[in-house]
Amino acid sequence: MAIRINGTEVAAPEDARVSLLDLLRERLGLTGTKVGCNQGACGACTVLVDGARVLSCLTLAVQADGRSVTTIEGLGSAEAPHPLQAAFIEHDGFQCGYCTPGQICAAEAMLREIAAGVPSYVTANLTAPAELSREEVRERMSGNLCRCGAHNGIIEAILQVAQERAP
Ligand code: FES
Ligand code: FES
Repeated sequence: MAIRINGTEVAAPEDARVSLLDLLRERLGLTGTKVGCNQGACGACTVLVDGARVLSCLTLAVQADGRSVTTIEGLGSAEAPHPLQAAFIEHDGFQCGYCTPGQICAAEAMLREIAAGVPSYVTANLTAPAELSREEVRERMSGNLCRCGAHNGIIEAILQVAQERAP
């Protein structure tokens, strides 16, 4: 078995104790994924596994065996930025940028969750698609901390991309 990382097959580490975060950063040099708390509290290490957001610091690399992992490097580039990356720039959704890869991976997964009809704690009507309000986005992004306090810009950027994707 192997892990598909940004479209490339990578052998799963033999040491079952290696976290997905350490595999990405220390062994593969994919340093776009950041280390924050390293204990599941900040969201800086968020990546996508089969399209869903996971905290890579709390995920063993072997848990991703046979699955597809997407990091910020696989979402966009300087030449071809992901729409969320462009929107974060437009709305000043960052200052130091350390939390930004995790924010963008989480936002991409979060928009897919909303599109799939997954409710959140603040969704009032569980029988209808969630309304994309600031409150919804804040709640759904609450696992991603920004110590620079760029949350207002982050929310605006996500709302813009959500509107662009609206049918
Ligand atoms: Fe993984 Fe903080 S580094 S949640
Ligand atoms: Fe600095 Fe979020 S931009 S921590």
